Amino acid sequence: MARVYDDERLAGVYQSGNEMPDRSLRDWTHLIGSFTDRPTPAVVEIGAGTGMFCSAMARWLNASTVVGVDTSVPMLTQARLLNAHPSVRYVVGTAESVPTASDRFDLALLSRVVHHLPDRVRAARELARVLRPGGAVVIRTTFRERLDALVYDYWPRLRELDAQRFPSRSELLDDFAAAGFTVRSVTSFARPVTASLRDYHARMTSRPQSKFTQLTAAEFQEGLRRLRADAQEEPTTRPVPVIERYDVAVLSAP
Ligand SMILES: C[S@@+](CC[C@H](N)C(=O)[O-])C[C@H]1O[C@@H](n2cnc3c(N)ncnc32)[C@H](O)[C@@H]1O
Repeated sequence: MARVYDDERLAGVYQSGNEMPDRSLRDWTHLIGSFTDRPTPAVVEIGAGTGMFCSAMARWLNASTVVGVDTSVPMLTQARLLNAHPSVRYVVGTAESVPTASDRFDLALLSRVVHHLPDRVRAARELARVLRPGGAVVIRTTFRERLDALVYDYWPRLRELDAQRFPSRSELLDDFAAAGFTVRSVTSFARPVTASLRDYHARMTSRPQSKFTQLTAAEFQEGLRRLRADAQEEPTTRPVPVIERYDVAVLSAP
């Protein structure tokens, strides 16, 4: 799975396949912002991808600066195209080696990225370096204990595969504790990602997440066929929004 986001095709479909309604994005952004008391926080997002949260934090958190760090040049190219903002800078870098000065940020966001990190303790130490003492890291992820997203109903083998690569709650917290972080809270939060199952099916046709690279073409098509059949049954007059829940761990930097 390493560097799968270097694929231009995946980078090109990521934003449309993973965006959420404005209201959901705003609610998420306000939740993330609630973990800093700075009125104009300096923010870093590690694994910023196509920049959906970077521009949202610049707009809705009144962030003084947002630095979006990612290993993938194609993802950052999309971010600069789709989520440019005067307060946001996108830079190539890794969680393990963030190309910025020390004690620089009030808030760090890691959204859907911790399962990609080859050395979480090293990444946590690097976050401790770039955050000011007491700064907050917000980790938006799915703990191994709760792999209940709709995607697994249609592609059940993805649940087995993700159970091997997503950290458990205690593994994640232990790795950050090893770097000197203290836990502030662990909760979860859910918001609609599409307005209907039809919309969800439409976005899945583009295989917009790295996890799909682990399936054969036949496995992918079989899940998509079942999803399409269910989406076609959905009454157009009563669409059912698809809601995704994420675990949210918040820790304070040493
Ligand atoms: C699933 S995407 C998440 C994008 C965005 N944060 C979101 O929530 O939609 C994961 C991103 O993490 C990046 N990534 C993977 N390993 C990384 C690492 N070691 N350091 C920084 N970014 C990494 C990938 O290139 C990809 O853009």
